[in-house]
Amino acid sequence: MAEKQPPQSEHFTLIDERTGQRYRQSLLNGTMGPPAIDIRNFYHTAGVLTYDPGFTSTASCKSAITFIDGEKGVLLYRGYPIQELARQSDYMEVCYLLLYGELPSPAEKDEFVRDIKHHTLLHDQLMHFFRGFTRSAHPMAIMVGVVGALSAFYHEDTDIYDPEQRMLAAYRIIAKMPTIGAYAYRYTIGRPFVYPRNDFSYAENLLYMTFSVPSEDYEPDPVLVKALDRILILHADHEQNASTSTVRLAGSSGANPFACIAAGIASLWGPAHGGANEAVLKMLMEIGDKRRIPQYIARAKDKDDPFRLMGFGHRVYKSYDPRAEIMRQTCYEVLEALGLRDDPLLELAMELERIALQDEYFVERKLYPNVDFYTGIVLRAMGFPTRMFTVLFAIGRTVGWVAHWKEMISDPETKIGRPRQLYVGAEKREYVPLEKRPSPGKRTWSRFWGGGGEK
Ligand code: ACO
Repeated sequence: MAEKQPPQSEHFTLIDERTGQRYRQSLLNGTMGPPAIDIRNFYHTAGVLTYDPGFTSTASCKSAITFIDGEKGVLLYRGYPIQELARQSDYMEVCYLLLYGELPSPAEKDEFVRDIKHHTLLHDQLMHFFRGFTRSAHPMAIMVGVVGALSAFYHEDTDIYDPEQRMLAAYRIIAKMPTIGAYAYRYTIGRPFVYPRNDFSYAENLLYMTFSVPSEDYEPDPVLVKALDRILILHADHEQNASTSTVRLAGSSGANPFACIAAGIASLWGPAHGGANEAVLKMLMEIGDKRRIPQYIARAKDKDDPFRLMGFGHRVYKSYDPRAEIMRQTCYEVLEALGLRDDPLLELAMELERIALQDEYFVERKLYPNVDFYTGIVLRAMGFPTRMFTVLFAIGRTVGWVAHWKEMISDPETKIGRPRQLYVGAEKREYVPLEKRPSPGKRTWSRFWGGGGEK
């Protein structure tokens, strides 16, 4: 790989066609990827804003953690291809890499793993939070609440401007996420909580705390451990996605890191983001039969139908998602090992993939299967209930959120995140006293909230 070059400054000129005024803006170059026009002072000098809903053309920060080339299907963590990491590394090593920027030596790794294990237990008082939820609560709702509650346990002793305390907060949250995730699930099915075991690896512990019962021995299946570890690696980071940007935005005000991670979990929950793996499985079960696939493909293409083919498309990847390829292979390995190769849901998924990849609508729009398309099938085969899928994604992504939060806090260019807007509301107007206001006729809720009409 090319050696890291210091960013060079070039220029890019923007012309105001109304006045002919030219604005020469600095162009910032990263180590890889497209350059960015530095518009930090643009509003101040030109008096106009830039408009970019969804931030499709906006670099919100400089980051040295993850690189994606969506056209070529490249994903690098700290410069290392995701395929290499998934094949040769393990999740703890990847956590170290994302947090520290380098792969650990054997001694560094041992120490890191030991330190993480040291923080896996939850404060006994935190257990009461689980009991405040209904048994039917979605485990992601419990995650948002309990992780947010961690901020109450570690607030006074968390000075985010002290690097050592930042590191301690990072270790605590990475260590406690599997415990919280497993407990969120166990609570909803009425099983007693089991404490983590320090002789188990991160993925082993997650399986153990989720599936074991106190009255029986539990030996994690090595095939499942490997697959789960790989899923955690593949989800560990993905640069400035919605949940990571949420964590950064929340953290930019100096907020408590645990509260910021809770905000990230909330953002991840949506079906357009981390909730997609759950949505994929629901969709496959709803389709139910290969013969019904054309009907669903037609619905996905119909602009008047909100239905989308879950697990297809990606904001950044406009060729195959490299994680999807690894997951596809893992999917076969797991189903083979569990004797589930003839799983009808997998057959249905493969047929859906085949048809969608040949369909002009999907080909034209470069809508390939994303990582979530296969993750759901693997997790289901492993015995995880659908509602746990996004929880597992959140556990894997925590290190990414924490690495970005840490990078942001230590970046001298960080400012509180505060986007501007293009105001399209009413102009300044006079207040009309209540008794003088005319009746507007039938006023429906949909006039205010959008939607198809009064229901
Ligand atoms: N099914 C049908 N049509 C789709 C799909 C889909 N899954 N995804 C995009 N399209 C269509 C859009 O309707 C649009 O069509 P148009 O150009 O005729 O208007 C075109 O493809 C471009 O779509 P956008 O919405 O502009 O793409 P965007 O980058 O904003 O969205 C997203 C990306 C949200 C992931 C979208 O593809 C989607 O909703 N996919 C399904 C949900 C999913 O799998 N999410 C997981 C993302 S991966 C992750 O979080 C790990």
